[in-house]
Amino acid sequence: MLKARPTQNAEKIVTLLKAAGETTRLRLLALLAEGELSVKDFTEILGQSQPRISRHLKLLVDAQLVTRHAEGAWAYFRLADRGAGRALNDWLFEIVDLATPELRRDREKLAAVREAHREQANAYFAKIAGDWDKLRSLHAPDSAVEAAIVEMAGGGEGRLMLDLGTGTGRMLELLADRYEYAIGIDSSREMLAIARAKVDAAGLGNVQVRLRDITDIGDHAGSADLVIIHQVLHYFDDPAAALIPAAESLAPGGVLLVVDFAPHNLEFLRTEQAHRRLGLSDEQMNVWARAAGLEVEKVHRFPSGHDGGLTVCLWRLERRA
Ligand SMILES: C[S@@+](CC[C@H](N)C(=O)[O-])C[C@H]1O[C@@H](n2cnc3c(N)ncnc32)[C@H](O)[C@@H]1O
Repeated sequence: MLKARPTQNAEKIVTLLKAAGETTRLRLLALLAEGELSVKDFTEILGQSQPRISRHLKLLVDAQLVTRHAEGAWAYFRLADRGAGRALNDWLFEIVDLATPELRRDREKLAAVREAHREQANAYFAKIAGDWDKLRSLHAPDSAVEAAIVEMAGGGEGRLMLDLGTGTGRMLELLADRYEYAIGIDSSREMLAIARAKVDAAGLGNVQVRLRDITDIGDHAGSADLVIIHQVLHYFDDPAAALIPAAESLAPGGVLLVVDFAPHNLEFLRTEQAHRRLGLSDEQMNVWARAAGLEVEKVHRFPSGHDGGLTVCLWRLERRA
């Protein structure tokens, strides 16, 4: 039986095909199959000027093959996740040989660009590790957020909790006694050294910390009753890249809690504090959750209480029915 696909009138299909039917734009689409990217990422990878890349992206957005999300002075792009644009993209990736030398080189450059961003973030955390516990309370009304985390984390009968991007281990301290085992994962040696000392001092014998990237779920597939990602996703170019493995690590009925900033315009957080994303919107969270097979069940918001301050959001995600 033929699979039902979204249909469009012939004129729209011609627009879609024209938009995709050009070498640079096909390269942009192939790169977007790897996740969300900014104009700056594309210029670095393709070595073409910003106005040129922006013109190509505009055509892709107008044809609804790609969506655009403005964030302060930057804009991020991702493949359409619905409609005829999605259907055409899916079909393209079935028939385009991604091993073609030019497309392979683009992906290698993308990996290098992402590695450079990770190194920047790592250098930042190595520098501030000793001050993080002081700094983190400046970012958010801690006690209110933590009370809501405890409430949303639920009953506490779970076996395993994963704290992705544990930093100095505050979430482990807050929640570990509700779990049989708790594991904190982080890519910063310096942050983990503090977390380890804290866990030892508190005598938390059920807690371990592990040095690795949070996208590497190791042997935790399908095993975590609670996964928490607290103030980490804004360091990712493509937060969906972290949510997909996090979702895979959930046990049946498991819950993923994400805590991060609401959208803001504080550009200096990019230049001075290694942020990649200027906050996360509910709309984006819904798209990323869907891509990871999850849905947003609840959202809490915690405004900073002073002008120009950052609002913290807490999203509870569960597997889609
Ligand atoms: C702002 S701190 C938050 C730490 C902790 N969750 C808290 O709220 O106190 C962000 C942490 O995420 C870690 N991190 C960022 N990207 C990561 C990645 N790809 N893999 C593992 N850890 C990462 C950093 O090393 C840092 O310790």
